[in-house]
Amino acid sequence: MRADLERIRHDALADLDRCADEAALEEARLRYLGRKGELTAVLRGMREVPEAERPAMGELANTIKVEVEERLAAIRRRLEEERLAKSLAEERLDVTLPGIRLPRGRVHPLMQVQEEVTGIFVAMGFEVAEGPDIEDDYHNFEALNIPRDHPARDMQDTFFVSEDRVLRTHTSPVQIRVMESRQPPLRVIAPGAVYRQDDDVTHSPTFHQIEGFWVDERITFGDLKGVLSEFLRRFFGPGTRVRFRPSFFPFTEPSAEVDIGCVLCGGSGKQADGAACRMCKQSGWVEILGSGMIDPNVFGFVGYDAERFSGFAFGVGVERLAMLRYGIGDIRLFYENDLRFLRQF
Ligand code: PHE
Repeated sequence: MRADLERIRHDALADLDRCADEAALEEARLRYLGRKGELTAVLRGMREVPEAERPAMGELANTIKVEVEERLAAIRRRLEEERLAKSLAEERLDVTLPGIRLPRGRVHPLMQVQEEVTGIFVAMGFEVAEGPDIEDDYHNFEALNIPRDHPARDMQDTFFVSEDRVLRTHTSPVQIRVMESRQPPLRVIAPGAVYRQDDDVTHSPTFHQIEGFWVDERITFGDLKGVLSEFLRRFFGPGTRVRFRPSFFPFTEPSAEVDIGCVLCGGSGKQADGAACRMCKQSGWVEILGSGMIDPNVFGFVGYDAERFSGFAFGVGVERLAMLRYGIGDIRLFYENDLRFLRQF
């Protein structure tokens, strides 16, 4: 038995020393120390050793086991270090290499205008509301005092989704939705996309409006004029001339269209070369928004007491504001996503 142990010690240490990688080392470990390993087998055979020799033999076997285990651990540590050193040397990371520059995007000019307008009204105490793009007939027309056979429905070139559902033709249905669910006082601004079957250099089938309304006791046409004049001067500049013209909308009475002095010709109606201004067609004014005092019938639809409450509403086109502000003649530029155009804003 002593001879067996001495041979195992010699073979095991020699085998371990020859191991070139961690897999070979593991194999060697199993060969000697594993459950079916050689040293394990000898230790198991200890029962057959005569009683007198057993303590000495046991001690020797243990010493060998510890020795082999320590050698194993030492070699394992060395192999790990070698592996780490090798990967550090080979897999070099050059932190000085230039990175990949990602192009920075920016806010679309239409959304810039929408944010700016919303900001002006928020500063005047308005809150922001939203409504669905797909509306039912009731909110888009009926409750806005536009009954089924009303000729005003023709003004709006509606896209129908089904018999009863439409792509909203204006943001005015948001007035109804807000008033249905809440009581005055209300000061609300509602930006969003709207849809009409219209397509030329100044009209797009999808465009954007900002609706606004203020309902409380004793709101007058003077409030309408004051708020809208202030808005237009903040947006187009303090010297902007503003004009209110009688108009008609089924959901406001009285109604007014609002013009500003032409931003291209400065109101003269003529271009620098003396020809008629192409923006205002020589009138010196350009129409900018629709507005009016909310019709008592509309208050009836949302269950407000029209004797007690009054209010004004308005709708303004975002594309129109942007085209006038930046002197853009073709609305389609906003939707083509040509970076040469978009980068200018
Ligand atoms: N909804 C109208 C339109 O799209 C604009 C408007 C809004 C007019 C509110 C008056 C009051 O033409």
